[in-house]
Amino acid sequence: MKRPILIHPDPRLKKVCAEVPDLSDDLRKLADDMLETMYDAPGIGLAAPQIGVLDRLIVLDCAKTDKGEDARPLVMFNPRVLAGSDETNVYEEGCLSIPEQYAEVTRPKVVDVEWLDRDGNLQTETFDGLWATCVQHEIDHLDGKLFIDYLKPLKRQLITRKMVKLKKERARERL
Ligand code: NI
Repeated sequence: MKRPILIHPDPRLKKVCAEVPDLSDDLRKLADDMLETMYDAPGIGLAAPQIGVLDRLIVLDCAKTDKGEDARPLVMFNPRVLAGSDETNVYEEGCLSIPEQYAEVTRPKVVDVEWLDRDGNLQTETFDGLWATCVQHEIDHLDGKLFIDYLKPLKRQLITRKMVKLKKERARERL
């Protein structure tokens, strides 16, 4: 089932999310809903707080399917960055909670990440390039951090004002 995506500013996007203590069918269903919502958007990553659920859960798939790569949906419960490279990468980032706004963000190029998969198995993997950027962006969401928090205050305020306006317009359309 597709879920509505929260748009910034929203207090739920600023919260530190809680660790998932035990996996359950409800949580697996939630992960499936998030993947469906992410692919439909379309996007390459989604964090639970973006649909208003304050659990440490993210989904992502950065496979370049338009270039013949197989889809690779990843579900990560309690994801954690174990280590990041000194070498950095700059990507023009966007966010499904901040539609049509993009800005360059610098992050470690390579990260080691640990998480529980949808079967409850502990996984670790080294991510590089777009996958590394995406997984860091999504884990940030679980700590109430958005990519615009890396920007200069003026630029951040400009984007936030645009989002306030967008939300007003959308609310008006629903009347
Ligand atoms: Ni995002």
